[in-house]
Amino acid sequence: MFGINRIAYEDVQHYRRFLMTTFRHFGAGRESFENKVAAESEILRLEVSKLQGKNTDLHLFLNSATTNVICSVVYGRHYEYDDTQFIHLMDLVDRFLVTSGEGGSENTFPIFASLFPSKAKRELNAIQATIREYLSNIIEEHRENFDSERINDFVDAYLREQSLQSDSVADVHSFVHDENMRGHLFTLFLASGHTTAVTIYWGILYLLANPDIQSSLQSELDSVVGRTRFPRISDKVNLPYTHAVIQEIYRMSSPVPLSLLHVVSDDTTIGPYSVPKGATVVSNIWAIHRDPQLWKDPDEFRPERFIESPDNVSEVIPFSVGRRKCPVEALAQAMVFLFLTHLLHQFKFVNHEGSSQLSLHGEFGTVYKPVAFLACALERSLDDYKKDD
Ligand code: HEM
Repeated sequence: MFGINRIAYEDVQHYRRFLMTTFRHFGAGRESFENKVAAESEILRLEVSKLQGKNTDLHLFLNSATTNVICSVVYGRHYEYDDTQFIHLMDLVDRFLVTSGEGGSENTFPIFASLFPSKAKRELNAIQATIREYLSNIIEEHRENFDSERINDFVDAYLREQSLQSDSVADVHSFVHDENMRGHLFTLFLASGHTTAVTIYWGILYLLANPDIQSSLQSELDSVVGRTRFPRISDKVNLPYTHAVIQEIYRMSSPVPLSLLHVVSDDTTIGPYSVPKGATVVSNIWAIHRDPQLWKDPDEFRPERFIESPDNVSEVIPFSVGRRKCPVEALAQAMVFLFLTHLLHQFKFVNHEGSSQLSLHGEFGTVYKPVAFLACALERSLDDYKKDD
């Protein structure tokens, strides 16, 4: 679906190693990355401040912030939040993720997809073509200015890998082949900013619906971080309640509920079931997160469960498990933590219709996103801190 062709299994592993090493270099754990997210959080704070507490759907703001961090790591570009090309791109990714999760007869009878492409399939092809053309231009710009001594972003690192493996560039089975490079960048574009933004969006929704939990989290932030600086990753260990709330957001929302489809490479068995080579496997992360055998009152948003039973954290698997789990989990977790704590440190989120009126249902797609909702972001005044304390 993503235009990545016939890559040999060893090359999939090679690409994954390359992706993880490169993102470790530019990403999570690096001070430069934290500073990048902190700078973007500050832009987000100023944009939200401009709303002056008006009831607003914050999704586009969150998506702009997370996508900007990814664009900067992947190809070194930052966009204004009202940039029309940027908004169009985010909208295309949004539509792709909703439409690609709709399924239909093509999933059961894949041959239909090529013989009689449905309206959804045609839309996916059109979106893919537009985004790939956009990415091709970015690759070409990078190629023109490429300097192997100055690797500034992921695309530069990919071009350097192409030059190191010049013998393989013409091989369509290799991850350094141009077409596969475009496909991988496309996947990265789909998998990254939107998933992270949707997680934060769910977080705001659950905290609107549970004002007491929001206020306890803010009290913890105020006493540990104080009011003279913003939260940092190093604060995480001293914020057990905030950590528990974030785990509960991951558990309740399952932003990628059915993970990605996998194909079995050899005949195997899972428990009492035989699974033949070539079968498509879907992992139901959602079902694990709501399994009554693992969780007491699984449909209740109750962060305290992780304070009472800290071991339960290992059952929270929004990034999936195993060798194909999300390759940049640490970076995504860092973004969710920093953006969410920064916003909650600065704003109190309220809903004028009353928390009981909020729908906690989502729209099904590859990424599970809340039904659009409005929130007022009120700047936290000194009185708030005192009251929360
Ligand atoms: C909260 C945010 C995120 C969640 C919940 C999430 C979750 C997931 C899940 C469940 C998968 C499928 C794993 C599997 O196939 O078993 C996945 C794959 C992937 N994710 Fe993430 N992800 C997030 C953020 C990100 C970010 C920020 C990036 C990039 C910077 C990213 C890049 C990828 C890539 C490239 C894959 C495909 C890996 C492959 O094909 O082997 N994800 N993610």
